Amino acid sequence: MSVMFWKATDAEKATGGKSLAPWQANRAEIDSRAIKGGEIFFALKGENVDGHKYVKSALEKGASAAVVSEIPKGLERAPLLVVDDVEKALWDLAHFNRARARGKLIGITGSVGKTGTKEALKLLLSAQGTTYATEGNYNNHLGVPLSLCRFDPASDFGIFEMGMNHANEIRPLTKLVQPHAIIITNVEAVHLEFFNSVAEIADAKSEIMEGLLPEGIAILPADSAHKDRLLAHAKKSGVKMITLFGASPDADFGLMEIQEKNDGQEITANIRGTKLSYFMPFIGRHIALNSLAVLAGIEALEANIQKAALTYKQYTPAEGRGSSYYIDWEGIRFTLIDDSYNASPASMRASFAVLKSKAKNGRTIAALGEMRELGKDSVQFHKDLADGLKDIDLVLTAAGNMQHLNAALSPAQRGPHLEKAEDLLPALKSVLKTGDTLLVKGSHGSHIYKIAEKLKTYALSPARSAS
Ligand SMILES: Nc1ncnc2c1ncn2[C@@H]1O[C@H](COP(=O)(O)OP(=O)(O)OP(=O)(O)O)[C@@H](O)[C@H]1O
Ligand SMILES: [Mg+2]
Repeated sequence: MSVMFWKATDAEKATGGKSLAPWQANRAEIDSRAIKGGEIFFALKGENVDGHKYVKSALEKGASAAVVSEIPKGLERAPLLVVDDVEKALWDLAHFNRARARGKLIGITGSVGKTGTKEALKLLLSAQGTTYATEGNYNNHLGVPLSLCRFDPASDFGIFEMGMNHANEIRPLTKLVQPHAIIITNVEAVHLEFFNSVAEIADAKSEIMEGLLPEGIAILPADSAHKDRLLAHAKKSGVKMITLFGASPDADFGLMEIQEKNDGQEITANIRGTKLSYFMPFIGRHIALNSLAVLAGIEALEANIQKAALTYKQYTPAEGRGSSYYIDWEGIRFTLIDDSYNASPASMRASFAVLKSKAKNGRTIAALGEMRELGKDSVQFHKDLADGLKDIDLVLTAAGNMQHLNAALSPAQRGPHLEKAEDLLPALKSVLKTGDTLLVKGSHGSHIYKIAEKLKTYALSPARSAS
């Protein structure tokens, strides 16, 4: 049982609010359905729902306290912290917790690979000290302060993912977190809806450097087409220490070689002139590149790089980000690569490469759902994928702009296009053969994940990842 690091008196001090009764807590939550016990529940007012409606049930389910701006009827003596503005109180508590934290904090942003990088860092740092990392994908203006409120200030390490769809979103998040180090994983055409160009995305990602502590370290992608822009921002933000990672010769954490073996890959890195090799039970050049950023993060937080590299052998990706499964679908035995959590041009290309490597001798099949949030050039981004699919034997597509990719495929590899991802299932049943490798990928909104979910019900028992 972890220490109750939140007390009513501290929360009053942090927010200027008033507690109706004493309480203590060691978690924070904004979704009453997720209450398990011991939380501060923030009764936020959303567009459709008002959290105040759920205060009673949150307390009944075991929440230690609730932060409210109005006292719900019948709860006049309950452990409620009454404030003017609940969202502001969430930020105030996060700020208070940050100020008393004694460990080292790292912030992560980037177009793709934030969650994967965060999970890897969590695995590696947990072997060296008490570690907290953003849970799930809580990376926005509610998720980041919530994560900071969940962070036990006695922890050795804290890892915070920061995401954005617009300019000026990351700045307040990083200023709240005040990290000792930051990572920008990469800058790509993702979440492009509210930007005119990828260069503008580089600017927005660079905001993360504005919250770095004065001696903080910025870990930046050496291979990025926007590297110079990122470096210019670093200079403008007064960043004194920069670590570059990637395959480019100027990388401080450089990729030398990747060797596939035993359902995984052995990576050889050049770390400031010293060779370091390590194994991860997962393949993909993109993950190898991310691992260099992770090791640079380990160095920046003054943890042990050699030990961390050894821990990489325990790495498994988060759900829907490329794990593979052996499937027996009523007699058809094939390998499924489930990368159905989300998709963008960069992550699609990374997955096509994994599909190709993994299939070895069998056929390669891709079932692809639409990529969302790509803005005005979305049709072109879909068409352009055809080039990366040249070596793939068969491609089935679903939803929205995927029809444009379908039209751009070569006739030999073109499978059906269906408006609803769910309808791909019978089409897949008729084309799949034993020995095939199937990639399932698309944005969440394309519903392609439902195909992966269904196929995984046929995973050989016990369901096991093949990588
Ligand atoms: N360096 C990379 N280059 C290309 N694709 C990558 C890279 N790193 C991860 N990916 C792929 O991007 C997809 C999303 O990964 P992940 O969830 O880690 O990203 P994220 O940045 O957290 O996304 P979100 O914006 O949804 O929070 C996965 O398919 C993953 O395999
Ligand atoms: Mg994420």
